Amino acid sequence: MKTDPRYQSDLDINIPESAPATAFSIKGEALEGKPAYLDMQATTPLDPRVLDAMLPHLLGNYGNPHSRTHQYGWDSESAVEVARKQVGTLIGADAKEITFTSGATESNNMAIKGVARFYKKRKNHIITTQTEHKCVLDSCRVLEQVSQILSAITSGPELKGGRCEPKRPASRFARSEQRVLSKHRDQAEAERRSGAVPPALLVLVLCCSLVRPLCAPLAPLVRSLLCGSSPSVLYLYPQEGFEVTYLPVQQATGLIDLEELAHHLTPKTSLVSVMAVNNEIGTVQPLAQIGALCRANKTFFHTDGAQMLGKLPIDVGDLNIDLMSMSSHKVYGPKGLGALYVRRRPRVRMEAQMSGGGQERGLRSGTLPHPLCVGFGRACEVAGEEMENDKIHVERLANKLRTEIQRRIPDVVINGGAGGVDGVGYIGCLNMSFAYVEGESLLMALKNIAVSSGSACTSASLEPSYVLRALGVGDELAHSSLRFGIGRFTTEEEIDFVVDLLDSHVARLREMSPLWEMVQEGIDLSTIKWSQDAH
Ligand SMILES: Cc1ncc(COP(=O)(O)O)c(C=O)c1O
Repeated sequence: MKTDPRYQSDLDINIPESAPATAFSIKGEALEGKPAYLDMQATTPLDPRVLDAMLPHLLGNYGNPHSRTHQYGWDSESAVEVARKQVGTLIGADAKEITFTSGATESNNMAIKGVARFYKKRKNHIITTQTEHKCVLDSCRVLEQVSQILSAITSGPELKGGRCEPKRPASRFARSEQRVLSKHRDQAEAERRSGAVPPALLVLVLCCSLVRPLCAPLAPLVRSLLCGSSPSVLYLYPQEGFEVTYLPVQQATGLIDLEELAHHLTPKTSLVSVMAVNNEIGTVQPLAQIGALCRANKTFFHTDGAQMLGKLPIDVGDLNIDLMSMSSHKVYGPKGLGALYVRRRPRVRMEAQMSGGGQERGLRSGTLPHPLCVGFGRACEVAGEEMENDKIHVERLANKLRTEIQRRIPDVVINGGAGGVDGVGYIGCLNMSFAYVEGESLLMALKNIAVSSGSACTSASLEPSYVLRALGVGDELAHSSLRFGIGRFTTEEEIDFVVDLLDSHVARLREMSPLWEMVQEGIDLSTIKWSQDAH
């Protein structure tokens, strides 16, 4: 099989003559017997040019980049600084504004918790969207949860300007507990002033506040300790609580409503976090308008740019982005590395989430994996050079995939912005539902294709994706949805193979579906009254 000459490896590894004609291949590697890979939002293969750049740093240049006393350290450090510049250049940022992390998950955690906690005395409100990546939503929930649990624990008294004042009715506490709490209020304040706080209780309350599963079993214990001995703990964390607004998205496109964003922005809003390109449906949010709104409101704008980096042009200056999360393995770089862009002017301050040696200007302690930094830097450089070529290549294949599926398979619904509505989506992420097909069976049948489904497997059940739910996609269609991710190394053969396989398996599965049979007989399913089984 011939591969695109653009991706000739610098090492010039040739595909062996013996490679079977049926194998899928990228330059330098024949993927014999492997499924067709259409899951580029999950991860991308390493670009051979990136590997070439990394190899010397995995072998001879093994110095710790933070060693200041010898050549090994200096060499690694200067390689890291070149990489930092390469990452910055791709997004229009200064190298000093790039902090290396372990990936976009860490960057998102760092940005959201770091900014929220730094500015919490003056601002305690965050805005995000319902369709963010889990790591953004969970970071927000952690900040929010502290306040919820504290409300439950404090249940009444709260410290304001050094005095205890009633907060709100303690619905979660029994009357007897409320009486105990109020009895101890004055004593608690005295204890707080004298600093007499048992450390074990502090740890316990903190654990309960941060780790949800621990809360339920430990809550009675905490309550009895609080009521029985030292209620002073009540006053330790009241101002840790944050309010979070989760913006809904428009059903057809997955876009946020800018008027709704403007409506929720208040002087108390420290951070707006809206992802650049959605990882499930490809929707591209209006970053320039969001950035302008945030700037006018003196609110920081963070974007999760993991799925946009290297695929669409980004200039953090033009877009008024103050913080941006990035991931190396989504842009044909190595896994295990990411970065956070943090604006220097006007300066964004943040609380470090990691304690340690103070690397990365104190924002992110830990020895940098310099071969990975080099790989990420080179991946960004290649992405800058190839962006136009990649766009043409991805558009051609994605259009072919979409039109061929729609031409050959009836009753296919496109979810979200990418495939359905022009101009609001990244075309390399195509999310489609195959009506009247049981989702799990479809996935099983497609084991020769690597794609993602619209269901996230939880312990006992297949949950439909929360992103599709936020779009208003019904459970049935969400269960039968697939995400096709097309990228730099996707081949035309893979697209043809996927269309053929889908065509035959969807038809076969529909043959077994009673619903499909009724639709073929012209019955309008919405008119049917389904009777409930009594068992
Ligand atoms: C939009 C988005 N944000 C964050 C992440 C997490 O990235 P990483 O794997 O680098 O932690 C992903 C990847 O799954 C993603 O698609």
